[in-house]
Amino acid sequence: MKLRAKDIFIPGAFPKYTYISRQSTEYDFTYEFRLTQSLSTVGFLTSIVGPSKTGKTVLCEKVIGQDKIVDFTGNDFKETEDFWATIARKIGLPLESDHTEHRTIEGHGIAGIKEGIVSSVTESYRSNKDKVIQYFIEKDLVLVLDDFHYASPSMQFEIAYQLKDAIRKYFRTVVISLPHRSDDAIRKNSDLSGRLNLINIEPWNKGELREIAVTGFNQLGMNIDPAFADDMAQESLSSPQLMQSICLNLSLLLDIDNNASFDKLDYPMLKKAYKMTSLNLLSYKEVARKLKNGPNTRGQKRKTYPVIDEQVDIYELLLKAIAVDPPKVSLSVDEIKRRMDVLLGDAADKPDRLKIKNTIDQVQSIMQSSEPMYQVFEYKDDEVYILEPLFLFYLRWGNLG
Ligand SMILES: Nc1ncnc2c1ncn2[C@@H]1O[C@H](COP(=O)(O)OP(=O)(O)OP(=O)(O)O)[C@@H](O)[C@H]1O
Ligand SMILES: [Mg+2]
Repeated sequence: MKLRAKDIFIPGAFPKYTYISRQSTEYDFTYEFRLTQSLSTVGFLTSIVGPSKTGKTVLCEKVIGQDKIVDFTGNDFKETEDFWATIARKIGLPLESDHTEHRTIEGHGIAGIKEGIVSSVTESYRSNKDKVIQYFIEKDLVLVLDDFHYASPSMQFEIAYQLKDAIRKYFRTVVISLPHRSDDAIRKNSDLSGRLNLINIEPWNKGELREIAVTGFNQLGMNIDPAFADDMAQESLSSPQLMQSICLNLSLLLDIDNNASFDKLDYPMLKKAYKMTSLNLLSYKEVARKLKNGPNTRGQKRKTYPVIDEQVDIYELLLKAIAVDPPKVSLSVDEIKRRMDVLLGDAADKPDRLKIKNTIDQVQSIMQSSEPMYQVFEYKDDEVYILEPLFLFYLRWGNLG
């Protein structure tokens, strides 16, 4: 069967044909090898930490197999229900407390003289915990606990406590969380120290991202020009999801399924593919709007600066400076100032460093007092770190309106 672009480039799920194996810079092994090693070490808990959308789930699917994963998120566990009962419910094991077995006794002995006597026999089952562990071992399953940081602190400790004992009984578990989010119940738990395998997923680099495009287009019988692949990798920043998405949209734009060639590909076409990709990111429009508005001025008008054919205030200017070429995952205040200076051309009045720093501080507090979706960058030691590559991509290519 001929493969189509949508089978090859998969931005939202497991990329069967464009899965790229990566090597950690901390050690000379691939992440797949490291996870396999960890899962083979009886009595150890595996903790995977990595920035959002870097392939933590996909890594588990690759190594463990989609059908062997029993997945939960930190939200799924409630203080009101026993940890093991929650798992038993999900995998369809009858719970200890409500297990009553009805049996029809037939034919033999005194009890069976009257045929069809129905008796209610309550089997005394081992606890839910033992049943769940047994079931996981028999079926070779692995518990994957995603977004662990979403569980309340007390629930986190309860989960860690339950797992500590279970892993000694051959119960295999992977706990996944984001960096900078609290998972101290696992990583700083003295009961687990010495029995914890840590896997830190690093951000993707340009070479690794490129490989998605090269591999995918190869599968479609085409060789992409290295210069175009580089440009796409640069735009993807550190996001394999973005790369998958750009490749898919470019394929659709070029109608690759019906005409497998790059004849029509040039930079204007590539830019069109970026714009098309940004349509999937409209949820960032509201984030951009909120940050662009800055804090409430209580009716006072802000000073404006001339950028090409419009007047923008300092907040809009900041977003423009972050968005211009080249896209970067981190920018120093000095670099932001240089970018602003270029944007403002020969305007007489340009914001100084102090004003820029105050502006970034204000935006940072707006982000911090908003939902997690708004936390798209972080300001630390005079440096702006982009936490959400998709947001920067939207700033660059979306129609901000
Ligand atoms: N090794 C890989 N090779 C190719 N593409 C990948 C790889 N890892 C991830 N991707 C792409 O990135 C997307 C996001 O990956 P995944 O959902 O595993 O990230 P995550 O770290 O679990 O994200 P989240 O923090 O939201 O849970 C995948 O659907 C896929 O398109
Ligand atoms: Mg995930």
